[in-house]
Amino acid sequence: MTIQERKAEHLRIVAEEDVSYGKSSLFECIHLLHEALPELDIDEIDTTTEFFGKKLKAPFMITSMTGGAEFAGEMNRGLAEAASKSGIAFAVGSQRVMLRHPEVSDDFRVRSKIPEGVLLGNIGAVQLAEYSPEVIKGLMDDIEADGMCVHLNVAQELLQVEGHRDFTGITDKIARLVDSIRGKILVKETGAGLSPRVLEKLKSIGVPYIDVSGSGGTSWTRVEKYRAPSPVLYNTGQTLSNWGIPTAFSLIAAKKILDDKTCIISSGGVYNGLDAAKSIAVGADIAGFARPVLLPFLKGGVESAKTYLESVLYELKTAMLLTGSKDLKSLGKTPRIIAGELKDWLNAYGWLGEKGM
Ligand SMILES: Cc1cc2nc3c(=O)[nH]c(=O)nc-3n(C[C@H](O)[C@H](O)[C@H](O)COP(=O)(O)O)c2cc1C
Repeated sequence: MTIQERKAEHLRIVAEEDVSYGKSSLFECIHLLHEALPELDIDEIDTTTEFFGKKLKAPFMITSMTGGAEFAGEMNRGLAEAASKSGIAFAVGSQRVMLRHPEVSDDFRVRSKIPEGVLLGNIGAVQLAEYSPEVIKGLMDDIEADGMCVHLNVAQELLQVEGHRDFTGITDKIARLVDSIRGKILVKETGAGLSPRVLEKLKSIGVPYIDVSGSGGTSWTRVEKYRAPSPVLYNTGQTLSNWGIPTAFSLIAAKKILDDKTCIISSGGVYNGLDAAKSIAVGADIAGFARPVLLPFLKGGVESAKTYLESVLYELKTAMLLTGSKDLKSLGKTPRIIAGELKDWLNAYGWLGEKGM
């Protein structure tokens, strides 16, 4: 099966099958306190922020997604346009295919669709064993991107018959890339989350942008189960279909472990503006959406994706006003209560303060 055929299959499964985690992101355990006297005017709420040195209208990004063979270009161009019109960032899906089949490179060259905005490239961490930092930088420059996402997807690889099985030496390869493309690397998971130990490793090699991409949204062990060619891979996909670290925990861990200079992205089951507001309240700088923005795009194109993003922004603004937060900095300090299962996760690390906050 070619890379393009595999990506087309992924897209069909993600659009048609039940690929959401059976357990949640744990955002429901974060409660923001209602402020009945906010003393704010919604028109003055400021949601702007900086990302990769550029200004965003809202603290959002469309995270990396690869399309199918024929659809990749249409998808990247459409989502880039929706992101540009909404004033948010856009990352293309894995550019690995460009290295094997340079004839498809135009599918990723979407700078004209997001001329002023933040555009990011993407490559798998496992590919860093095969290709030098210069080649990866070449991919970034080829599409005139502002930075490069490197994805970690061990659980997915293990469930693919054609996937990698050896994950040794990857931290060093990422460190080399960080050294050669200073300040422009975003390391992300793909829906299974980053543990405190992994966050420590990424901190030690100086990764400047980190997307926790935790569990609670799209489950890639589930996706791969639907295309498993053998009973062994099918059964393993079924058993591990809820494998991963809930996004809310991974996010709070990132805030505790990383220094203030690191930009933290919350994704994986971030479905709406309230999830985004909760993410920012516990430490995220940016909220990321993959499948939640892909589904409206597949149904109604750029306009539907844009409408979805408009709702998310209005939900965020509403949550900001209702918590008395005039800008994202104040939202980051708004009182919140942590309850339920998330409390157990945080207690295990001794991270729950006296007020349960
Ligand atoms: C159709 C599809 C394709 C994806 N392809 C990539 C990819 O090429 N590179 C990557 O880093 N992540 C990829 N992802 C993972 C997402 O960026 C994200 O980390 C994950 O889906 C969890 O976010 P969600 O719950 O908002 O979907 C893909 C996701 C989807 C839905």
